[in-house]
Amino acid sequence: MEKRRILVTSALPNANGSIHLGHLMEHIQTDVWVRFQRMRGHECIYVCADDTHGTAIMLKADEQKVDPKTLIKGIKAEHEKDFTDFLISHDNYYSTHSPENAHYSSLIYNRLKDAGQIAVRSVNQLYDPEKDMFLADRFIKGSCPRCKAEDQYGDNCEVCGATYDATDLINPRSSISGAEPVLKKSEHFFFTLSNFDDFLKTWTRSGTLQDQVVNKLSEWLDTGLKDWDISRDAPYFGFEIPGEPGKYFYVWLDAPIGYMASFQNYCERNPGLNFDDFWEKDSDCEVHHFIGKDIVNFHALFWPAMLSSANFRTPTKVHTHGFVTVDGLKMSKSRGTFINARNYLDHLSPEYLRYYFAAKLNGNVDDLDINLEDFVQRVNSDVVGKVVNIASRCAGFINKQFDGQLAAEVGTPLIDDLAQRAYEIAAHYENSDYSKAVREIMAMADRANQYIDEHKPWIMMKDENQRDQVQQVCSDGLNLFRILVTYLKPILPSIAEKSEDFLADTFDWSSLATPLTNHKINAFKPLLTRLEMASVTDMIEAGKDAAQAEEDKEEETQMNAIEYDDFAKLDLRIARIVNAEAVEGADKLLKLTLDIGDAQRTVLAGIKAAYAPEDIIGKLTVMVANLAPRKMRFGISEGMVLAAGSGDKEIFLLEPHPGAEPGMQVT
Ligand code: 2FM
Ligand code: ZN
Repeated sequence: MEKRRILVTSALPNANGSIHLGHLMEHIQTDVWVRFQRMRGHECIYVCADDTHGTAIMLKADEQKVDPKTLIKGIKAEHEKDFTDFLISHDNYYSTHSPENAHYSSLIYNRLKDAGQIAVRSVNQLYDPEKDMFLADRFIKGSCPRCKAEDQYGDNCEVCGATYDATDLINPRSSISGAEPVLKKSEHFFFTLSNFDDFLKTWTRSGTLQDQVVNKLSEWLDTGLKDWDISRDAPYFGFEIPGEPGKYFYVWLDAPIGYMASFQNYCERNPGLNFDDFWEKDSDCEVHHFIGKDIVNFHALFWPAMLSSANFRTPTKVHTHGFVTVDGLKMSKSRGTFINARNYLDHLSPEYLRYYFAAKLNGNVDDLDINLEDFVQRVNSDVVGKVVNIASRCAGFINKQFDGQLAAEVGTPLIDDLAQRAYEIAAHYENSDYSKAVREIMAMADRANQYIDEHKPWIMMKDENQRDQVQQVCSDGLNLFRILVTYLKPILPSIAEKSEDFLADTFDWSSLATPLTNHKINAFKPLLTRLEMASVTDMIEAGKDAAQAEEDKEEETQMNAIEYDDFAKLDLRIARIVNAEAVEGADKLLKLTLDIGDAQRTVLAGIKAAYAPEDIIGKLTVMVANLAPRKMRFGISEGMVLAAGSGDKEIFLLEPHPGAEPGMQVT
């Protein structure tokens, strides 16, 4: 078999949140494929990185009052630990905020520019005048122009489903500062994707993508592609565009280039490897990306077009998967089903999940449901009940009765039968149809158990004359077990490793056809314990508690949303109401004349329903004395009086204790 050289990636997780079930499904899917390729003797390098740039990360760092670099460093360490504990075998886990990525991002941009594929255009965009920054749609909220639902994002309404431009929102607000956004012009840089229509029509239909994905992309390709805006204005956490001060690469430009950068960094540490071998235009190495269906346009349109225009090779395959649901529903924090990696690991073994995902992943784009009861039942009945059980049934006899020695010969054609399935099982792995591989492996496990059941070594053991046969059947059982675990090794690497220790062997595709005979094995140690529903329930409860704690914290930060400096800007003064009168034509207003010691202010206050003017003249109250005068329909108001209550009659002016004097500052 020809040795393939394969580079594999999973999508780069964002550096502003924890690893959750969605990431885990993708990394497990990728890792199984990678481990399988390595077992087949191919060179298979698996790289990933944190996706670190963009507004969301910049704002999160702001909120936590840390430098974005500090934020992404901490998150990267957390992500790496999570993936390692899930037995994900990345060869390199890097960061998009790296010199290698800056280098390749500039290189690719310059090549696109030299090829005439960068256009500069003026763009009118909403701008936050308080934060001094342009606002992406998801940072603008307002009322839906169609159904008037409040608090909707700048691109679509979650209530009625309308899609619109952020400028169509009624009463739009920046969700960062609360300010009303204004339209502002800016120069943006575009990658002229529209020039790649023909190239992409061919590329997407050349066997690089699953059919479901090709069909989806055809819809876009048939309506024609728009040029892609690849720049963002400062402030932005990212790479500055060469020669364009204040302009940054949009995070989605440098994110996929992060695959190259992570590989380059790996090459630097492994001198035998050469970056160009894998990335030059006519490379015969393979590049495989594993991604979710939500980011298919970036990987199957923008990315191949960029690569080809910059004179690099394009991906061999983009493997796209669907979303994870739990008990048929979208993952939810409040239901405790937005399960993050650490919460899972605090309660359960990673291989339960690896097995369950593999048993359900079939290489198509449909969503994958984790049904929690099915999860428990399936892991227990398959892995514990069918596979591990064979070893525990046979190990005791061989170790105790035969000093760990396996029989000299093979006693059943079943062993060869199972080993002969290697080609078929390999094809399922290669096609990412792990569910078919698992189904067939479990059917084989049933046959192996049947073989032991038929011969009943525990009964034969009672008859001294049948000792040899006990050794034979149990040795056969262990050889069957060895084949099953070899097939499952990409999915269950830790169980495979413990089984290798136990059988004093290394499991590989190439050794499947050679059973262990006359071979000494080691003591058997438990490989996997049963999965208890109680542990799953504890995990869900812990998820709910964490969500509640997060909500409480958010509420607290919202309640404390202003800084002391903001509070200190308020000039609150004791004021004496020296006059109060109705305002002609106004139903709710009283015109107050307030004495604040060294000055008098006129304030229009909405308290007419609660107070008759004569009742409040002469009283003390509290006013905001440095509010900029506001022109109202009935005149100018030079401040505000402080009052409590729900409005109309239910309004109560704040009244200082006796002894307070007009003009005193309220502190
Ligand atoms: O969707 C995401 O989470 C992105 N961070 C994935 C990036 S994949 C690649 F292009 F970098
Ligand atoms: Zn609406």
